[in-house]
Amino acid sequence: MAVIEEIRTVGVIGAGQMGNGIAHVCALAGYSVLLNDQDESRIDAALDTIQHNMSRQVTRGAITHDDMMGALKRISKATALTQFESVDLAIESATEKEDVKNQIFLTLRPILRPDAMLASNTSSISITRLAARTDRPDRFIGVHFMNPVPVMKLVELIRGLATSQETYDTSIRFVESLGKTIANAEDFPAFIVNRVLIPMINEAVYTLYEGVGSVEAIDKAMRLGANHPMGPLELADFIGLDTCLSIMQVLNEGLADTKYRPCPLLVKYVEAGWLGRKTQRGFYDYRGERPSPTR
Ligand code: CAA
Repeated sequence: MAVIEEIRTVGVIGAGQMGNGIAHVCALAGYSVLLNDQDESRIDAALDTIQHNMSRQVTRGAITHDDMMGALKRISKATALTQFESVDLAIESATEKEDVKNQIFLTLRPILRPDAMLASNTSSISITRLAARTDRPDRFIGVHFMNPVPVMKLVELIRGLATSQETYDTSIRFVESLGKTIANAEDFPAFIVNRVLIPMINEAVYTLYEGVGSVEAIDKAMRLGANHPMGPLELADFIGLDTCLSIMQVLNEGLADTKYRPCPLLVKYVEAGWLGRKTQRGFYDYRGERPSPTR
């Protein structure tokens, strides 16, 4: 089956921090967007976030007020996946759990048009394995956006074993039309960015666990000593500690090297439900006026 050549309508599944960013950049690039989540209140919250983030872009002159109004009109709420029968490309951006993603692909089977493309924004799971559970492994690809999506320039493109050349070519045109730059990554655990970034974050948590430095000292050291825009613990809170842990688990299981052992302190934070900014507490507590370290 040939894949769609021209994408006009994009369906985004999952209205969390990645999903709302993906909907944001697609709508600004002129695509019609259907934004889906199993919880309608999360779609509403995502629409508010998109409006807020676009307003920031208007304020700093990156886009005009008209651009914003046009883009907002192009985003529709899709409370059920049955509304995805019109999409040319569906981008799965649900939680980083393989069974959740597989269930979504199963639900989409009778709905998606045969020539539609299916992409996953997974940050670490095998594209080949996810694709194999769908009805269209040749029209399936990994399109990994970075957070915050409207600001970060990179998208990793990951071909599974069965991804067709046509799907890859259409994906390149699509990603470039969003104004993003592509890095090709082979389909191995966590691809490029997270293979390098998340073990660094895990190591920062070990540094804290072993008492080498405090939360503030570790972040200050990496901000001022390595010129990182955020310290590793601040960045972990920003990404979500559950996401960081699940990526470490994928690396640990997929590469079976003890250097990928998740730090027990990272596990403890996740067990406590202190997942970072999204739950108001992680390595920092965000409930006060200024973030304060929790250790
Ligand atoms: N939408 C639109 N604009 C946004 C935004 C958003 N969500 N977030 C920030 N901005 C804009 C701001 O308006 C601001 O614009 P100007 O500079 O033109 O005024 C600019 O971005 C910088 O924002 P702030 O001034 O609020 O804060 P900052 O200077 O500290 O930058 C940051 C914020 C861009 C997030 C920066 O701290 C940064 O680059 N941090 C590292 C982010 C990073 O590493 N991301 C990758 C995470 S890994 C990943 O995503 C992969 C994965 O699978 C886990």
